[in-house]
Amino acid sequence: MKTKPRLVLLGKQGAGKGTQAKSLARHYEIAHLSTGDLFRAQAAAGTAFGLEAKRYMDDGELVPDTIVMGVVEECLAPGGPLSGGFILDGFPRNKAQAVELERVLDGTPLHAIIHLDVPREVVVERLSERRVCVKNGAHIYSVAKPPKELWVCDECGGAVVQRDDDNPDAINKRLDTYERDTRPIREFYKESGHTVVTVDGVGENDAVFERLTSAINSAVS
Ligand code: AP5
Ligand code: MG
Repeated sequence: MKTKPRLVLLGKQGAGKGTQAKSLARHYEIAHLSTGDLFRAQAAAGTAFGLEAKRYMDDGELVPDTIVMGVVEECLAPGGPLSGGFILDGFPRNKAQAVELERVLDGTPLHAIIHLDVPREVVVERLSERRVCVKNGAHIYSVAKPPKELWVCDECGGAVVQRDDDNPDAINKRLDTYERDTRPIREFYKESGHTVVTVDGVGENDAVFERLTSAINSAVS
């Protein structure tokens, strides 16, 4: 594919955004920006910015928009890491961020907004079984699909642990926040004339990946 896709991946916590965005970025040779991974990496490095973000994350709250936009705007700047196509994972998270994204893109259109659809009861189970590498949570496993050596990351050799926000209280709070703040973004995009596609996120990873690439190929061609 000549055109490098510019995509937003939406979906509930645990829908498989991180899992699939990583494969899609490799497949289309585009950048993957997960704001959550970025905040976790900063928190693990102990920066003031990362530790501030972690306070919100551990409570299952959204990080304030001003902090989030500072990071995203830097990545989207001309010549920046996202200039050759991208998949945004975990951003935008509310209507204000979606509006800000349009401002930062300054007329460069998004090819598609992909909604990875998974029922709440399925994501609750997935989140309670998820394990991630301690570095930033970007290498994702589960109790059912652990790394080759228990619990050492196949990719970076770091420890594989449970995320601090994958506890029942924070999971429920995050899912409620999704319903209140993130779900309405789809309407915003539809009303502003964007291509919004819903893809079934239930099933084996490879089957979900096939569905996603088929939807993206149609949207980008
Ligand atoms: P973030 O890191 O984005 O987390 P999240 O939104 O809670 O989403 P998850 O990462 O939990 O789910 P996922 O869809 O990526 O699922 P995954 O692929 O891991 O954000 C964390 C926090 O950071 C937020 O709460 C907020 O505080 C802050 N934040 C981030 N962005 C922000 C923003 N823009 N504004 C404000 N605050 C922000 O998969 C989950 C599990 O399911 C894994 O174990 C995986 O192996 C498994 N799995 C995946 N696919 C399948 C499948 N097909 N079948 C079976 N199991 C599967
Ligand atoms: Mg994720």
